[in-house]
Amino acid sequence: MMDGTLPRPPKEPGLPHKGPGAALRHDSALKHTTGEARFADDLAEPAGLLHAAFALSPVAHGRLLALDLGPARAMPGVVAVLGAGDVPGENDIAPIGKGEPLFAEGIVQFAGQPLAMVLATTRDAALLAAAEIAPEIEALPAVLSVAEGFSRAQFVIDPMVMRRGDVAAGLAAAPLRIEAEFHLGGQEHFYLEGQIAIATPGEDGEMQVLSSTQHPTEAQHIVARVLGCDYNRVTVACRRMGGGFGGKESNASWVAAAAAIGARVTGRPVKLRLARRADMLATGKRHPFLYRWTAGFDASGRITALRALLAADGGWSTDMSGGVVWRAVTHALNCCHVEDVEITGCAVRTNMQSHTAFRGFGGPQGAMLMEDVVHRVAAACGLPPEEVRARNFAGVAGNGDETPYGQKVEGDLISRVWAEARRDSEWDRRRAEIAAFNATHPTLRRGLGSMVLAFGISFGIMHLNQAGALVHVYSDGSVRLNHGGTEMGQGLFIKVAQVVSAAFGVDLEHIAITATSTSEVPNTSATAASTGSDLNGWAAHNAAMTIRDRMAEVAAKRFGIAPELVVFADNRAWAERIGANLFLDFGELAKLCYLERVSLSATGFYKTPDIHWDRVAMRGAPFFYFSYGASVSEVIVDTLTGEHRCLRTDIVQDCGRSLNPAVDRGQIEGAFVQGMGWLTCEELWWDAQGRLRTVGPSTYKIPGSRDVPPAFNVRLLEGAPARSETIFRSKAVGEPPLLLAISVANALKDALGVETLDLPATPERVLMAWRKRAILP
Ligand code: MTE
Ligand code: MOS
Repeated sequence: MMDGTLPRPPKEPGLPHKGPGAALRHDSALKHTTGEARFADDLAEPAGLLHAAFALSPVAHGRLLALDLGPARAMPGVVAVLGAGDVPGENDIAPIGKGEPLFAEGIVQFAGQPLAMVLATTRDAALLAAAEIAPEIEALPAVLSVAEGFSRAQFVIDPMVMRRGDVAAGLAAAPLRIEAEFHLGGQEHFYLEGQIAIATPGEDGEMQVLSSTQHPTEAQHIVARVLGCDYNRVTVACRRMGGGFGGKESNASWVAAAAAIGARVTGRPVKLRLARRADMLATGKRHPFLYRWTAGFDASGRITALRALLAADGGWSTDMSGGVVWRAVTHALNCCHVEDVEITGCAVRTNMQSHTAFRGFGGPQGAMLMEDVVHRVAAACGLPPEEVRARNFAGVAGNGDETPYGQKVEGDLISRVWAEARRDSEWDRRRAEIAAFNATHPTLRRGLGSMVLAFGISFGIMHLNQAGALVHVYSDGSVRLNHGGTEMGQGLFIKVAQVVSAAFGVDLEHIAITATSTSEVPNTSATAASTGSDLNGWAAHNAAMTIRDRMAEVAAKRFGIAPELVVFADNRAWAERIGANLFLDFGELAKLCYLERVSLSATGFYKTPDIHWDRVAMRGAPFFYFSYGASVSEVIVDTLTGEHRCLRTDIVQDCGRSLNPAVDRGQIEGAFVQGMGWLTCEELWWDAQGRLRTVGPSTYKIPGSRDVPPAFNVRLLEGAPARSETIFRSKAVGEPPLLLAISVANALKDALGVETLDLPATPERVLMAWRKRAILP
């Protein structure tokens, strides 16, 4: 099982064999539903396998005085118990830079930090022994909120400031001003498959790791660092994840690293599968944010100046907080234009889990700023928030179309998605209907809210915008596809296979989708920032076209025509016209190429063109393009209990020319519901000692199937112009629609008649907001 490749999926009858644009189901859809899809924990276990379990710190901040591993070592089935001193290489798992220990050394930084790891012959034995480890920790004062960390100027990254114009003058000159503060909670990824890695030691210092990771290359690097070996000794592979959502970008790397340490020290294969509780305690989450802002505007709702602080809770270590804050800052105006701006972003160091990537990567938190501004300004002007937002749309009605960092957004698309969502939702009719309902009902309140988004696509770190692929054609004409992207349920593999099927003109069933592996495509980026199909689609296309060009030469010679005239379609190579009588079956041609000694294997590479960023000036054009979308949601609130439901949502999302409308629709629906969970029911709760107490589904409520709006109208923007040279003119879809769930929070504000709401809007918070509103004049 260590070759990282699982058997080719069985043929699925009735699957239409189409290329880009076809609404095909996920390549593993049937396997997911029947349970045949194999996740890491389903794979046959290698002989001699040991199971690992962590002992985690019960204290948020303190001095580690003693860690007696003796009692755990004496437990039945235990083979080894390892701590910081047993790491063969460096005890450092920082994804960027250095200084993030895997096992606490000297100082404990958060409740949930790994202290030691037990290796035992069964998982139960490992868990029991880990529970025997009782560290002696002298508690130190812990910083447990963004506000506190901020007041101490304690940061994990240098604060960044994005400026345009003169914000002080702009604010002074504005006829009206508002100052405000609000708080937004974090979010647990709650991937259904928890963090897991299986490490198997090989010859000559080799280490094979099967990891549920969005970033095999980073896992490879971190494994090599903790083992103290070259990258070429380490192979990391992943066929699929049972969800990642950003939580398996950097966090998967240290899980892989821990398994590899166990495997190196014992010489035996090691499986580390975190229990849900340990997973929730030890891994980072979406960054909670604190906002403080001042806006200047006029009575028409035109916002002319905005100064804002976006302070993220970075947790105990840096992780990717720099990137998350950067995206929050660059998305703080979202689809709006404000002339004089100063947005300061920072990530505060606290004694909490190290917060990390989560679908949207700071973008949703950034866009939330402008929504708060728009809603408060609207209330001050006595205007509907929709009118104020539209009044401030970038690139419309005389407003500039340049972001404060200097990149242009497309005002026509912003207005278009909003106009279509408004129309689809029958806005005016329902507005009136809801007003009539609210005027008469004694306890229930309905509300209507909206959201419009402009989300920049590309990694904020420019060099990450690259990808590689490896394609083989075998002599029977069957194709084996491999690329650097990982599959986490988002449908990347089927999309890239559709691209390759178009290149060769062969049906999808002839293309084997294979596991991601650092040994096949090296030096890859994480599958993240929604760029998976953009980057890997092009790389795979380039690899396939290299082979196709070689095959065309061979066919052309046989046909006696020029290579440019060979057409690949319907599983054949044709002389000029499809349907002409001169053709070769793709398999025949592959065989011919082999006999002619023509290589049928190629790598492909792609890097996103035309993007640039100046970190010092905080200016540039960092995004290849923007994704646009709009939504309208209706909620109903029980004012006696604060309970609420989303009754209907209408969405229009720009996917360019979608590579796979079925997969994209699934992404939009899933992202929306996940966003709704973040803003309404998912509440992370730490006690006064900084211990996370929401550590499982009984205390942490993710949305269920019955939380999906009963009327859920999702539409891809039709005839969407893709102005950049994306693969088949498609656009990324993985993250942007998560922001559309902000319409639910806005609908709640509308129902309650409040202009702001601390989030997540749990029934308690909704009830408190309603009571406060009823009491205050
Ligand atoms: N969809 C599913 N089903 N599972 C996931 O883990 N992750 C999201 C999104 N959609 C995720 C998902 C995140 S955070 C990102 S960045 C993108 O998928 C990554 O994949 P892509 O770049 O191929 O869209
Ligand atoms: Mo997604 S948060 O970029 O993995």
